[in-house]
Amino acid sequence: MVDQQAAHGRADADALVFFGASGDLARKMIFPALYGMVAHEELTVPVIGVAYSQWALEDLRTRARESVAAAVPDHDPEVLDTLLGLLRYVDGDYRDAATFESLKAAVGDAQRPVHYLAIPPTMFGTVIEGLAHVGLHKHARVVVEKPFGRDLASARELDAVIRRAFPEESVFRIDHFLGKDEIMNLLYFRFANSFLEPVWNRDHIASVQITIAEDFGVQGRGAFYDTAGALRDVLENHMLQIVALLAMEPPAYQGYGAVHEAKANVFRAIRALTRNDIVRGQFAGYRDEPGVARGSDVETYAAVRLFIDSWRWAGVPWYLRTGKHLPVTAHEVVVEFKKPPQALFDDAMMAQRPNHLRFRLQPDGEIALGARVKTPGEEFVGEQRELVVSTGGAGSRHPYERLLADALDGDRALFTAEETVEAAWRVVDGVLADHAPAIRYTPGTWGPTEADTLIGADGPWHDPVLKTTTDDAARA
Ligand code: BG6
Repeated sequence: MVDQQAAHGRADADALVFFGASGDLARKMIFPALYGMVAHEELTVPVIGVAYSQWALEDLRTRARESVAAAVPDHDPEVLDTLLGLLRYVDGDYRDAATFESLKAAVGDAQRPVHYLAIPPTMFGTVIEGLAHVGLHKHARVVVEKPFGRDLASARELDAVIRRAFPEESVFRIDHFLGKDEIMNLLYFRFANSFLEPVWNRDHIASVQITIAEDFGVQGRGAFYDTAGALRDVLENHMLQIVALLAMEPPAYQGYGAVHEAKANVFRAIRALTRNDIVRGQFAGYRDEPGVARGSDVETYAAVRLFIDSWRWAGVPWYLRTGKHLPVTAHEVVVEFKKPPQALFDDAMMAQRPNHLRFRLQPDGEIALGARVKTPGEEFVGEQRELVVSTGGAGSRHPYERLLADALDGDRALFTAEETVEAAWRVVDGVLADHAPAIRYTPGTWGPTEADTLIGADGPWHDPVLKTTTDDAARA
């Protein structure tokens, strides 16, 4: 989907600078992504890591080697060597002007660097000022990691800081979910087909559920997590992006500018959440995690009910839930259709809701249509089955690989526009501060039972089932 307007004026970057080179994100995500980019011949420019760790270039190379070995066990040693050969390193305090003088020397002749800030947002201002001070913001792009602020007000402040040095078209806000194939497929599946549109509205859809479940905890990120919580970490960004792709109107023209606009319109139409629309939970033991405050009320689980006040979605409830230490790691959307208008078959009317469309986004991409089919025999009785298509397969790329390559190319299609960021914060802003205390839940369960009360008669929640067989009847 090429946006001619957006494509205009693009120029490939000639250096990639990344701040936070010794950090967790770099180790887990960025080095494997850089490796993939080299393997796909998308990275040939110098990569300059910056950190304040009293490291030398050799330490950075060691970290890169370990990180790639862990993430890509069958990696090609030649590709890895090429990546190691592209690396440069600058060590220093981001508050010290000398760090940026050294960086300028390391950037050398490059004219169009991309600066990737894989660092806490509290440091963004300092780094951006440092870059501007030595002129490294000129003809450059900046890539920033979510969360973009902590609420609507701080998101605006953050944007003002960034915009002091970079115009909007040079700012690339990463939400890595947008680089995932299964998420991109929501857009494709909806608008590359014609059968969906006539039923994709309040006349036919009873409710929508989205679950992002993780069976692990905060994985040593307690200090960060305790400043964020599930609402800021996952719901406000990743989940609302999924809502937008499912709920948006057809883009007005071929091009990502139209997609951005259609998504922003969804956020504008979502009714701001109030304390009655949310259940917050915290897994037992969270307060003992390193970096977490002993009396912390930060939620590791959130379930919300939201409404989109638009012509298409008026009255359709959307239920979103996400949490750590749930029974499985799975991301899934279930769109439930209304019941048939007449009771021709008793058993079909007794069924909860006979039809649904299920999008399994993770771990394996899947689209399933739930429907009732007659069981063999004289009686008109049936069961609910699923027609399943698997959407995953070879060719899938790591989202960071895709997104960083796009940033180097100057392609903003899969990045988030500031107006969308602000519109998304507006949805959750009220409940960030005004909410009931987090309810304790046992790790390995589906969170507080209060979430069942929230969904009420629109339930039950569909807990993703990780199948070991293709027995789709099991989930009926
Ligand atoms: C990140 C959150 O943005 O997304 C994490 O900070 C979460 O807490 C992660 O685990 C989920 O993304 P993925 O791609 O690893 O499923």
